[in-house]
Amino acid sequence: MAGAHVLMFPCPFQGHVQPMLKLAELLALHHLHVTFINTHSIHNRLTRYGDIQSLSASYPTLHFNTIADCYSFGNNTGSGDTTAGNIILSTTLHAKPLLRNILLAQSPEIPKVTCIIQDGILGSLSNDLASELGIPITIIHFRTSSPCCFWPYFWLPNLFKTNELPIRGDEDMDRIISNMPGMENLLRCRDLPSFCRPGAKGNLSIDWVSLQTQQSLAADALILNTFEELDRLVLSQIRLHFPKVYTLGPLHHHLNVRKAETNEANDNTSFRSSFFEVDRSCMAWLDAQAKGSVLYVSFGTSTIVTREELMEFWHGLVNSKRRFLWVMRPDLVVGRENDDRIPEELEEGTKERGFMVEWAPQEEVLAHKAIGGFLTHSGWNSTLESLVAGVPMICWPYFADQQVNSRFVSEVWKVGLDMKDVCDRDVVEKMVNDLMVHRRDEFLKSAQAMAMLANQSVSPGGSSHSSMQDLIHYIKSFGKENN
Ligand code: UDX
Repeated sequence: MAGAHVLMFPCPFQGHVQPMLKLAELLALHHLHVTFINTHSIHNRLTRYGDIQSLSASYPTLHFNTIADCYSFGNNTGSGDTTAGNIILSTTLHAKPLLRNILLAQSPEIPKVTCIIQDGILGSLSNDLASELGIPITIIHFRTSSPCCFWPYFWLPNLFKTNELPIRGDEDMDRIISNMPGMENLLRCRDLPSFCRPGAKGNLSIDWVSLQTQQSLAADALILNTFEELDRLVLSQIRLHFPKVYTLGPLHHHLNVRKAETNEANDNTSFRSSFFEVDRSCMAWLDAQAKGSVLYVSFGTSTIVTREELMEFWHGLVNSKRRFLWVMRPDLVVGRENDDRIPEELEEGTKERGFMVEWAPQEEVLAHKAIGGFLTHSGWNSTLESLVAGVPMICWPYFADQQVNSRFVSEVWKVGLDMKDVCDRDVVEKMVNDLMVHRRDEFLKSAQAMAMLANQSVSPGGSSHSSMQDLIHYIKSFGKENN
């Protein structure tokens, strides 16, 4: 059967699956055939907490398929080890034969796969697969983390050559990195991707992440979840090495705007791609709060804090006397005992001015008029969602790209404050009041200007809108050639 057909394969984490699903929906809105591959455990979570069945039912050309969880295989990686590092490593090692089986068992009812959009962090997976099978498939890498981190990942080997890496220890953390093109003298050692730190957590090394990033050079094109106006300087550097880059972001907003314009996707429903049970009770609480009075606090899907850090944040929030909505994921705090006593002043302060949920409808929360700031771990999806909503941020990065993102929030986009590597109740209190009161106008002005640029980029004639048209054209051109 003639036509284009895209197979999409994200790394199995919410922060990766979610923007890829948004892209899949955008492609399906353009009537492209898309097969989206999830691992069993991701598919189960999306079935349980998201709307994956309704999503599938709404688009006749969007198909879902599943493969086994790669961390359950033995060999080089520990079987059953579900740490983030092992999930990524085991997927790069074991997914290829599973994807091959899917490619070999294609239905004659729909066009054969002409293009693979693979999560870039998985390296050479699809290139190897296509050459093994000897079939012409266009390979596109989608890096779901930030471009301002993709670029350092790519450039890191050069920092060893100029002796700017390795980082020599704690006393070295404020040293400025001068030889990063497009980011000269911007990053300190502490702002580099977390894998650069001595004794970095997890089992992914700088060398490994950097090598995976270099593998994207062999792909036919690269997709980034950003917009030109946000990352102009970084993109011009990336394009010196990657000639075909599509900037389609912010993807969640891009999709919302397209769906608002079209009547084709049923009633423009926004489908949840959640991995946790959403508690909407916070929306009624927000409705009762004054405009711009609430700080939203959320650390994303996998950040963990110690009991001591929890107490510093909690005291700082209560002492700031500002209202707050806090996402307290059940697995957020390590070392917490059931009989841990919560100090009375925290109980009281929270009852008076706070609200806690285990998981919030974050996009909606950030768009609510009561929200005046966001204390975030600087995950790339959260950062983009905050930028789109025009909400200033306090950043407390945890790992990977978050260290770079938070530097850009404070020093490049100037839409917030970076609290990196500090967890102290007095600092929390001061930053909350700076963001929400003393420097509110300054941050709000730049955040709203950025939100306007984000909106323009996905509107007709905007940079991300045009880039999406180009991508569709590119994908369709291969559909024609192959049939
Ligand atoms: C991490 C990285 O930091 C990210 O940049 C990388 O690309 C993937 O891994 P994560 O912890 O998942 O990401 O954070 P983030 O990228 O911000 O994604 C979290 C998502 O969960 C956001 O889309 C956010 O809206 C959603 N969320 C979070 C909710 O819907 N409700 C909540 O209560 C909290």
